[in-house]
Amino acid sequence: MEFIKVNKAYAKHIALIQLNRPKELNALNLQLMGEIRDCLKELDQDDEVRVIIISGDERAFAAGADIKQMAGKSTIDMWKVDQFSTWDQINKTRKPIIAAVSGFALGGGCELAMTCDMIVASETAQFGQPEIKIGVMPGAGGTQRLTKALGKAKAMELVLTGKFISAEEALGYGLINKVVPVEVYLKEAVSLASEIAAMSPIAVQMAKEAVKRSFEVPLEEGLHFERKNFYMLFSSEDQKEGMNAFVEKRKPDFKGK
Ligand code: HXC
Repeated sequence: MEFIKVNKAYAKHIALIQLNRPKELNALNLQLMGEIRDCLKELDQDDEVRVIIISGDERAFAAGADIKQMAGKSTIDMWKVDQFSTWDQINKTRKPIIAAVSGFALGGGCELAMTCDMIVASETAQFGQPEIKIGVMPGAGGTQRLTKALGKAKAMELVLTGKFISAEEALGYGLINKVVPVEVYLKEAVSLASEIAAMSPIAVQMAKEAVKRSFEVPLEEGLHFERKNFYMLFSSEDQKEGMNAFVEKRKPDFKGK
């Protein structure tokens, strides 16, 4: 991996993917996105890993797709490269992903954070979709996910003016989970990840799948899907362990089986 660093020993059951193009503010070139995709695919298959964190560095989570790589491209070039199939793969990750965001989360960087399941941000974080300033528009979910989180008026303002919002504002809109001082944003992300990692990984993944489904389908269909996953969990050992532990007044020890 050239543009990401992966640490599977960061904390128990937690893998950390750190974007590693600091000089370019972690601009997301095609190789970097491919590395994230491949890495997530591998981590999804690794039973030791239950939660994944994606971070950048203090100055930038990611300042967007790599403008220098895109500048001279034609429509057909872009179509042939088909970069969004990479994003689609990332979006299929079963395990929960937390974005730990400090500094710029712009354009594709904001979209990558929103593709994750939760966002823990430092007070210095800034979110925005500034593509309009370079003559294009969001392409990896910005118009959709931002609108679902912020509502039409504010999303429209951000997408049409390219202005940024602070972490505090993003928190107010429900775009992110938590804002903390920059010194501890990664620690906070790990703490949230550890809380989730203590649960049954099967229940966690099925619950994630059901919550995500709520964005795709009408209520009745979503409820049907939820019910199916709820029933399925009764064939896991973790369900027996969780409920027995409650009855026996002890802490459950979930094995992911
Ligand atoms: C390529 C980038 C980059 C980007 C920053 N850099 N953002 N390179 N693509 N998206 C590079 C700069 O060229 C510069 O390299 C170095 O990173 C530091 O950036 P500066 O501009 O010198 O830093 P600063 O003055 O602090 O300004 C920070 C900034 C600004 C406000 C974040 O860099 C900026 O506006 N970046 C572009 C943001 C953007 O438009 N993002 C959306 C991209 S389109 P050099 O070598 O010149 O010093 C997009 C579409 C997604 O994301 C669609 C699907 C994936």
